[in-house]
Amino acid sequence: MNRESRTDASGELRAASQAQPNIALIKYWGKRDVALNLPVVGSISITLESLWTRTDVHFMPGQKDDRVSLNGRSDQAETKRITKCLDLLRTRAGVDYGANVASRNNFPTAAGLASSASGFAALVHAGARALNLDLSLEEQSMLARRCSGSAARSIFGGYVEWVHGKLADGTDSVARPLLDANAWPLRVAVAITSTAAKQVGSTEGMNRTAETSPYQSAWIDTQEADLSVARDAIRARDFDALASISEYSCLKMHALALAAQPGLLYWNGATVECMHRVRALRQQGVPVFFTVDAGPQLKAVCEPSAIEQVKAALRDAPGVLDVLDTGLGEGARAIATDLVGA
Ligand code: DP6
Repeated sequence: MNRESRTDASGELRAASQAQPNIALIKYWGKRDVALNLPVVGSISITLESLWTRTDVHFMPGQKDDRVSLNGRSDQAETKRITKCLDLLRTRAGVDYGANVASRNNFPTAAGLASSASGFAALVHAGARALNLDLSLEEQSMLARRCSGSAARSIFGGYVEWVHGKLADGTDSVARPLLDANAWPLRVAVAITSTAAKQVGSTEGMNRTAETSPYQSAWIDTQEADLSVARDAIRARDFDALASISEYSCLKMHALALAAQPGLLYWNGATVECMHRVRALRQQGVPVFFTVDAGPQLKAVCEPSAIEQVKAALRDAPGVLDVLDTGLGEGARAIATDLVGA
C-alpha cells in the first residue's frame, strides 16, 4: 500500500520524502555559531532535479535507539548525525522514541555532491510529517540548517537564498525561494572526477579556515555585494552576470580555503582541466560557467541550448569518470514509502 504521509489507520508514525541536492552559486563557508550552525555569510543556490535522496522515517514507540540504513548500509558517524537531527524533531513533538530510517541516494554520497543537503532536507521533511508536526517550510529550513547548513536551501526548489539572519537564536537564518525553476530553466552538467569520499568534510574545513586563513575577514566583508549582484542577475535572467559572479564566488571561497593551514585543496587535476574547458567554451560564446564545492566534482551551469556541447567537452577531459546532466527542480516533498526501497 502506498502511504503518502503521517499516521495512517494503523496509527503508524511514518512518512517518506524526497529532496534534491542544491549547488551554491554564491557560497556558504564559515560559521558564526557552531552549536546553532549559523553562517558567517548568506548564500544563493540552485536546487537540482534528477539527483535525489529518498528517505523513509518510521518512529517506533518503545524503541530506544535510531536504526539507520543509508544506501543499504549502516554507518556509526552518520547515524550519530541523524540522531542529532531527529532529536530536534522529537523535542518539538515531546516524544522520546527511536526511529527506523532508510535512505537512498541515486548519486555518489559524500564526494562533494551535496548529499548532506538533500539528505537532511529529506530527513526533516519526512520526520516532521511522521510526528505530525505542522511545520512551515521556513521552520523546516531552519531545522534542516541545524543539521547541515546547505540543507536549509534544499527545502525549496529553483533559485534559493539562505539569509544570514540577525537573531542570536538563529530562528531567522532560513532559506527563501528567489525564483521558480521553470521561470529560468538552466541546466547543469556534473563532471564526476572521483567517487572517493572527501578527506576533509565541509564542517572541519570551515573551522580550519576560520582559525587559520588570513582571508576570512575579506571573505565576510565582500559577500553582501556578491549576493546583491547575484539576486539582480537572477531577477533579470542575466546569464553573463550570473556566470561572472558565480565563478568569482567559487574561486574566492577556494582561495580562502587554500590559504588555511594546512591548505584545503579540494580539486584534482581533472577539476582544473574542466574549469579551463568551461572558460574556453564561454570565450567562444557558449553560455556556461562552472562552480565547485568542497570536493573534486565540477558543476557546469548552462543555458539549455548549450548542454550537449558542454557535456561533450567535459566527457572528453582526461580524468573525468562520468558526466551527469540535470535541470533545476523542486523543493522537498512527500513521496510514498515504498518508493524509498532501501
Ligand atoms: C562548499 O552545508 O556541508 O558546499 O553546515 O557544516 O554541514 P555544514 O556544511 P555544508 O557546507 C557546504 C559548503 C559548500 C558551499 C555551499 O553549499 O554553500
